[in-house]
Formats: sequence, structure tokens, C-alpha cells
Amino acid sequence: MEQKILEIKDNALKEIEKASDMKSLEEVKNKYLSRASELNNLKKGLKDIPAELRPKIGALTNQVSKEIEALVNEKQEEFYTIELNKKLESEKIDITLPSTYEPSGHIHPLTKTINEITEIFELLGFSLIENKYSPEVETVKYNFDLLNTPKEHPARDVQDTFYSKLGENVVLRSQTSNAQVRQMQNSRPPIKIISPGRVYRSESVSARKNNLFHQIEGLYVDKNVTFSDLKGVLNEFIRLYFGSYRPTRFRNSFFPFTEPSAEVDVQCIMCEGKGCPTCSGTGWLEILGSGMVDPNVLRAVDIDPEVYSGFAFGMGVERLTMLKYAIDDIRLFFNDDIRFLHQF
Ligand code: DAH
Repeated sequence: MEQKILEIKDNALKEIEKASDMKSLEEVKNKYLSRASELNNLKKGLKDIPAELRPKIGALTNQVSKEIEALVNEKQEEFYTIELNKKLESEKIDITLPSTYEPSGHIHPLTKTINEITEIFELLGFSLIENKYSPEVETVKYNFDLLNTPKEHPARDVQDTFYSKLGENVVLRSQTSNAQVRQMQNSRPPIKIISPGRVYRSESVSARKNNLFHQIEGLYVDKNVTFSDLKGVLNEFIRLYFGSYRPTRFRNSFFPFTEPSAEVDVQCIMCEGKGCPTCSGTGWLEILGSGMVDPNVLRAVDIDPEVYSGFAFGMGVERLTMLKYAIDDIRLFFNDDIRFLHQF
């Protein structure tokens, strides 16, 4: 009997060793360990053998069952690992492969503001005039003279304006107001235009100032244009740009090309007029310059100031963008940091 059990064990171990996959192993397991297996039958027949042999034979069958089971488990583990590795291999992701993600372009926040402001003025009847009549490399005549700017005006100083080596009459324009003059030379009233573009100033760069920035110029010339038209248009612009009504203040000011002139303040966006660091405690933020076109400017382009009148305005694009989005450093617009640019 002992012999028989050891024979079963030998066969089982051999067959387990031979099993080539989970399925054949399962068959071997069934054959040797199921209820109907030879070993189990031997266990059942223990009661028929002499009592003194029973403990020894019983222990032996149990031990053989355990050995077979242990080996089956070991082999199963092996197959499982092999299968898992195969699966991992076939599903492997190579993270060193170049990615197929292509970042898409993004509209620059300043372009976005220019587009928004342009749309608002188009709603109010203005037409967009781009660089056609307002070059960035400009003559002193268009940047200053025809804008009624006195010869000794400080804005003409090299401290403020970039003069070109091409000649002392050539400058990088310091304001988009040159567009007014050029437009009026090239067309007759009614004129109702806006003209966005870059301007340059010779000053030291800081969180608030850059050598290069953007302005949007506006001009409306027709019969009977009054200061109340100016106020109406600019108040409406401010309401549409900031998204809701905001108190404004038209403050007496001076520009050589407008008379009277007004700087327009809007109630501080940050503190709602209470006073905070952004508005230097005043509760107001200056956002643009404006005024009634000076008769001298009209005369210089052969428009009769007795027949026609007009208003003009100029606003800084960076400033308006910074106020709307609470941006505290103008240099961010020019640093090409996509983490900043992608927020808009
Ligand atoms: N050109 C002025 C500047 O750069 C802004 C300005 C003020 C433009 C009054 C205008 C205006 O058209 O009427 O500071």
C-alpha cells in the first residue's frame, strides 16, 4: 500500500513538472487531488486495513496530498507570473517616445483687448483703420507739428521720444494720434474711425511702464459734434468694456491737439471707489485722454472749423487690460511666458 502511494506521488510530480500551461496543470490537479482521485479513494478505504497500519498510511496519504498541492500551487504561481509579464510586455507604454500633442496657438491678451474694444466702437458706428494711415516710423511733422504741438513741448524731448538716426525728423511714433492727421488728410468728414497700434517712448522700464506699448486712437469729425457726444460715446464704451455700468469722471486736462481736453477716470475696479493701492487711495483710475479737436488741427488739414467740429480720444491697451484682469506688471505682456498668456 505504501508502495502504491509513493508511486502515485511520483507520477503526480512528473505530470506536474510536464504541465506546460494553466490548463494542463488544472487537469493534473483534478486527477490527483479531486474527490474522485486515487489518493482520495485510498483515504476512504483506510477503514478496511488493519488498525495498526492506519495511522502510518493515513499520515502518508495526507503528506503526499500536501506535497502535490504545494507543487501545483508553486507551478500555478509560475504560470501566473509568465502570463502577467506577457501582458505587461504587450501593453507597455514607452514614455520616452516623442508625444503627439501639438500645442495650439493662442490669442495674445493685448490682441484680445484690441479686438474687444474695436468691436465696441464698431457697434457705436466707428470704422477700424489699421496701419494704412499711421506708420510706426513717423515724421516729426505727423507725430507733433500737425498735432499743434509747440516746438518747446516736453514730449518732443529725446528723453521721451525715440529719434531715428535716419534724420532728426524721423521718430518712432510716441502716440497713435498721427492716425488722426493722416486720416483727415486722406478723407473728408464725416470721419468716424478708430486706429489701434504700437507706440514707443524713451523711458525706463518698470512694472508700470514699457518702451513699447499699444494705444487705440479714436476720431469723430462731422457737423455739430459736441462735447456731450464725446461723453456719451466714452461712457457707453466704458460700460461695455467693463461689462456693467461704472461711474466715470471727466477731468479737465491739456493736450496740444484738443481744446477743451479731458482725462477720463473710471471708478476703481479693485476697491469700488473706497481707495486702495491700485488707485493710490483716490478711488479713481485714469483710463484715457480725450477732447474736442483743436481748430488749429482741423485747419492744418484743410477742414473748416467753422463748419466742422470733432472729438478725439486715445487709450492705452496695456492699462485697460491690466485693469480688467488685475495684472500688476506690464512686462508680463512681453515676456512670452505661456503660463501667463494661456490664462486669457
Ligand atoms: N495721444 C495722447 C497720449 O498719448 C492721448 C490722447 C489724448 C489722444 C487726447 C487723443 C486725445 O486723441 O484727444 O497721451
